[in-house]
Formats: sequence, structure tokens, C-alpha cells
Amino acid sequence: MPEAAFHMAASAPPMAADGPALLSARGLCFDAGGKRLIDGVDIDIRPGRRTVVMGANGAGKSLLLRLLHGLIRPTAGEVLWQGRPLDREGRLAQAMVFQRPVLLRRSVLANLRFALAVRGLPGPERRAREAEAMERSRLGDLANRPARVLSGGEQQRLAVVRALACRPRVLFLDEPTASLDPGSTHAIEQLVAEAHESGVAIVLVTHDIGQARRLGDDLVFLHGGRVVETGPASDVLDMPRSEAARAWLQGRLYLDTPTGPKA
Ligand SMILES: Nc1ncnc2c1ncn2[C@@H]1O[C@H](COP(=O)(O)OP(=O)(O)OP(=O)(O)O)[C@@H](O)[C@H]1O
Ligand SMILES: [Mg+2]
Repeated sequence: MPEAAFHMAASAPPMAADGPALLSARGLCFDAGGKRLIDGVDIDIRPGRRTVVMGANGAGKSLLLRLLHGLIRPTAGEVLWQGRPLDREGRLAQAMVFQRPVLLRRSVLANLRFALAVRGLPGPERRAREAEAMERSRLGDLANRPARVLSGGEQQRLAVVRALACRPRVLFLDEPTASLDPGSTHAIEQLVAEAHESGVAIVLVTHDIGQARRLGDDLVFLHGGRVVETGPASDVLDMPRSEAARAWLQGRLYLDTPTGPKA
């Protein structure tokens, strides 16, 4: 399979930080169980940019991804795709790799097939993408094995190539390497880097500071459902301005509200 084949997907090269947003959130709020879990988030995802989302457990990172991907409806505010309310077309231009890989009780190949069939691609195109994804994932020998018996690293690799086979313009990844060893982590990072080179916008949740440096252009730091800090990833990691980000990066517990320490 020629290297270039994988890159047919996205035509746009990595873009500048100030281009028009592909995906935006405006005043995004989400309430559940009588609590405001996402609180007034504004965010812009630009074509080809890599945005890293960080924050403590329970800060709202996974919820934010679900809202941006249109899996749950906001209580207030809105998600815009190219300036218009996110619709089916916008959702189909996105793909998501969940914190725990969501694989069908079918073979590796059938998992790929299903994802492509849902998008209504013609047979020859589907088969070409399947072959390419199998090659990319290095799971060729396991094509007919039930996906759920794969190792954690293999499952995550399958989840990433399955998402990329759909040729998304935005790829969400929620802690894709959380329980993986360095070799498997590197394989996932490589796939993400290749997707980025082909112009896919990446939104990545991670607790791994090294990974945030390697893969992040922009960093959004969440605390208590609010964006408390955002900026170039290296700036936020090297010189955090918010107490919440500073404490988190230093491994300290920070329990106060995002608006500031309580008196
Ligand atoms: N449907 C729901 N109903 C009530 N509470 C919810 C719901 N979904 C999430 N929460 C709560 O919202 C908060 C944010 O959850 P979320 O999963 O987004 O955190 P996170 O930042 O991804 O954390 P982690 O790093 O542990 O994955 C948590 O306190 C969680 O318990
Ligand atoms: Mg999470």
C-alpha cells in the first residue's frame, strides 16, 4: 500500500492558529444531577490544529468531547460546525476514539467494515480503505480474530485506524494511551502525527505531559467544568498562569472553585 494512500483523506495542510474555526463551542453548559458539569465553555477548533485538553479527573474533559462531537445535547450554549449548528453532516466529518475502546463483538475486519458501511461508501472504496487501515494498524494477522480478545494496545490501535478510515476532518481522542506501554503509546502517537500531517484537526485528552508537548499546538485546561487557561501548549505547560493548572502540573491537589480560592 503506497504511503500516500493514507493521506488522500484530508486535503488541507496544517493551518495557522488564526484561520476560521471548523468547530466552535459558544457558552457551552451541561447540567446533570442538579450540577453544572460544563460551565460556559468557549472553544475554537481550527483546521489541522492539535488541541490538547487537560485537567484533573472529573474536570469535564470527556463530557466536553461528547458535547463537541454531538453525542449529548448542551443544557445551554451551542456547538457550531463551520459557523452553523452542528448537524449530521458535521458529525460525519468527525470521529472519536473513546477513553475505553468501543468495539463491536465481531472480528477486527468486521469492525472496520461496519464503520465504513455506516457512512454509505461504495464497495470498492470501502475495500480500499479497509486494506489501508489493516496495513496501518499492523493488525493484518489478526484480521479475523474477535476484536474484543485483542490486547489493550491492539484494541486502541484498531479504534484509531477505524476512526481514521472514516477520513474525518476532526479526530477526538480521549486518553487514547492511558493504559498502554511505551511501544503501544508510540504506535498511537505515530498514527495521530500522520493524521495531523494530512490535515486532520486533533482534539486530544491526556494526562501525559510529555504527550501534550509532543502532540499539542494549543492547550485547554479545564477545572470544575470551566476553561481556566488556554494558550500554546508549551506556554501553558512551562508557565501556567492559573493556580489550578500550576497545582495540577506540580502534582498538587487543588480543590477550590475555578473563580479563585475560597476565603
Ligand atoms: N450523565 C452524567 N450525570 C451526572 N454526572 C455526570 C454525568 N456524566 C459525567 N458526570 C460527572 O461529570 C464530571 C465530569 O466527568 P468527565 O467524565 O467529563 O470527567 P473527566 O475530566 O473526563 O475525568 P477523567 O480524567 O477521570 O476521565 C464528573 O464528576 C462525572 O461524575
Ligand atoms: Mg474522561
